[in-house]
Amino acid sequence: MAVEQSNPFGQKDPRVITVKPPVPPAAPAAGAGAGAAAHPTPPLLDVAGLCTWFPIKRGIFARTVGYVKAVNGVSFTMRAGETLGVVGESGCGKSTLSRTILRLEKPHSGTVRFEGRDVFALRGNDLLQYRRDMQVVFQDPHATLNPRHSVLDILTEAMLVHGLIKPAEAQDVAAELLRDVGLQPDAMHRYPHAFSGGQRQRICIARALALKPKMIICDEAVSALDLSIRAQVLNLLMELKDKYHLAYLFITHDIGVVEHIADNIIVMYKGEIVERGPAEQVLLHPQEPYTKRLIAAVPRVGGAAVGA
Ligand SMILES: Nc1ncnc2c1ncn2[C@@H]1O[C@H](COP(=O)(O)OP(=O)(O)OP(=O)(O)O)[C@@H](O)[C@H]1O
Ligand SMILES: [Mg+2]
Repeated sequence: MAVEQSNPFGQKDPRVITVKPPVPPAAPAAGAGAGAAAHPTPPLLDVAGLCTWFPIKRGIFARTVGYVKAVNGVSFTMRAGETLGVVGESGCGKSTLSRTILRLEKPHSGTVRFEGRDVFALRGNDLLQYRRDMQVVFQDPHATLNPRHSVLDILTEAMLVHGLIKPAEAQDVAAELLRDVGLQPDAMHRYPHAFSGGQRQRICIARALALKPKMIICDEAVSALDLSIRAQVLNLLMELKDKYHLAYLFITHDIGVVEHIADNIIVMYKGEIVERGPAEQVLLHPQEPYTKRLIAAVPRVGGAAVGA
């Protein structure tokens, strides 16, 4: 095929594997989504042929002259309790993928199903439940924590809005959440500026846990932290995953970060998945030159990825 010869990835055209292959349920694609056949219940998350394109407008009439295909034909599935690493360089569409799953962007085409239900068709209580089940932790805790709200307010606001707790219970619930993320309960009376970057990220994680989600999207959640703090926060995330049977969609530009935490990995390039598989397979036996370059770029000390 001419397209295969001209592509920069070597033998395989990455675009060929971006659309979910029409495999029967008994033989799912390896890696991300592998194992779905062993579970008769629908996957926790099923993303199929997802395209999120942004129009490029020109001229005084703002005519659409093309699209930035930020996410272009992405398909994968995740089981409950699974950690899926999404890696790729800056601008490859990782955040757009997460924002689409969170319903913050509307897809051009494709579907996102959570526990078998079309996320974009959810309304009313079903949508509220999805907003509880699917939480997110972003890169910059400083930007996502309201500086005028105490930690108590930050942690309990959503639970109060959802009617999950009574105001009188707020302090006990906040104390429990803070203990969960390794902070002292008296931290609830302080404001975000009174914490270090790592502690603020712990507060963001506690806030994400508050609604007892089934899945947390971590979008570069540890990227801004220095190396020792990064390792501590990664360990915390792994402890919480075991404790609460959480699934993580773990987005990072640094493939070294997912080395110790991901069950499966998908590698994105220019909006498409170019490689996928169990973490060990992708990291130890990468097939695509692009994945090999990402792995080669990870700084290592004594054979271990720095910061992982
Ligand atoms: N609202 C938008 N309108 C137009 N283009 C957008 C919009 N949001 C993202 N893009 C473009 O989509 C592409 C993917 O962006 P995205 O933020 O998803 O990348 P990323 O992989 O998360 O990058 P990073 O690692 O730097 O966070 C980029 O080219 C970006 O400029
Ligand atoms: Mg991003």
